[in-house]
Amino acid sequence: MPDAVFTFPSDFLWGTATSSHQVEGNNTHNDWWEWEQRGEGRVFGDHTSGAACDWWDGRAEEDIKRMADLNTNAHRLSIEWSRIEPQEGEWNYEALDRYSKILAALRSAGIEPMVTLHHFTNPVWVSQRGGWLHPDSPKWFDRFVKKAVGDLYDQCDSWCTINEPNVYASQGYFVGKWPPGVSNMNDYFRVVRSMLISHTAAYRSIHAIQPQAKVGLAKHMVIWQPRSRMPQDRLIANLLDYAFNQVTFDALSTGRWRPIGSKSETLPELQNTLDWIGLNYYTRQDAWFSLRALSAMGIRFGPNPAAPKGPEDWGELYPQGIYECIMRLYKQFRVPIAVTENGVPDEFDKLRPAWILESLRHVWQAVMHSIPVTGYYFWSLLDNFEWAEGYDPRYYFGLYGVDFETQKRTLRQSGELYAEIAGSGTISSDMTRRYAPQIFERLFPK
Ligand code: FCB
Repeated sequence: MPDAVFTFPSDFLWGTATSSHQVEGNNTHNDWWEWEQRGEGRVFGDHTSGAACDWWDGRAEEDIKRMADLNTNAHRLSIEWSRIEPQEGEWNYEALDRYSKILAALRSAGIEPMVTLHHFTNPVWVSQRGGWLHPDSPKWFDRFVKKAVGDLYDQCDSWCTINEPNVYASQGYFVGKWPPGVSNMNDYFRVVRSMLISHTAAYRSIHAIQPQAKVGLAKHMVIWQPRSRMPQDRLIANLLDYAFNQVTFDALSTGRWRPIGSKSETLPELQNTLDWIGLNYYTRQDAWFSLRALSAMGIRFGPNPAAPKGPEDWGELYPQGIYECIMRLYKQFRVPIAVTENGVPDEFDKLRPAWILESLRHVWQAVMHSIPVTGYYFWSLLDNFEWAEGYDPRYYFGLYGVDFETQKRTLRQSGELYAEIAGSGTISSDMTRRYAPQIFERLFPK
């Protein structure tokens, strides 16, 4: 077959993504740090984040050079509330200054920053008062947002208010694997509600400071698929999809907040608060009803045993899903879409090259269907602290590998591939032949 080339729009943003706690190191004033120190299996191997990728003490700048080596022109990073406001109402101007320098370094390397204002971590003073369950939490967050954006707006105009409200709330308040370690469905919905209200306030505050700002949030989408055609399995898949995806979409698009198990209300201020929406996409999960899970409403989910999957219960690797999610988001909101995260846990880089090519093939398809997809931020630039999975190598996500003893970075094959993609703005049959021949027939059928 002659070479085929899929070309992306010339203004497409080719990026990578990271978050503060996962790369900076020594974020000693947040609730994750505290949680890690408590050990007892809260984090894999009782790892603590420690120096992480050592960004705060100077390595951010060298990694920005690596972003440029990858030919990328965008990066999504987060700023750490607990550094900027370590005690309530006390502002740390040195921290703001450090962020300003990092943003300036990105821009002078030709890399457009997107800044996330909340990526899973809270200052300890916030969590001590009940975190996002406290009725004042939206006010606390808004005060931080005004301060941070008021200080940094000359370096950035692309803001992601909150990363994955549904993941944050489900891991911390329903599954209970993340701080504060609670398992209560009502609390899950209360936290999502509080975060959506906070997003709305942040959206308005940022626009008041910077009218041309582009503000959105990052929504993690899981594709929930009934394991069989039995009605009870379909019911469970619908329930999970509603609680994890649709309840949030409804609230942001219609202002109707309808949690399961408690009263509905109308929050009209939630509408029209997205200049764009971010999609974080990783997996599809089978969902089914099980009598053995009666205490959890019979809900069970996990990857399809016959399909390619990530480690443990990570989920099915179903790259086509990115197209389905983009289409659903666009239908729901009719705003531009950024793929704010997409990646695969893969220590030996066996899966990553194919994952990148196949995912981008489906992003391209959405672009060809005239969906305004503005960019793609690969998770992640480099291996980092993966929350409850700590530094478990099975959860290394980087285009660069990191040796956490020495801080040495090593470019993986997938990094070489991504540099070719970002440099040319294309994916091609030639790249597929060289980096992922096993998917050639699927991507380029005769
Ligand atoms: C996402 C998180 C990100 C990282 C990836 C693997 O849900 O936003 O911090 O942990 O998963």
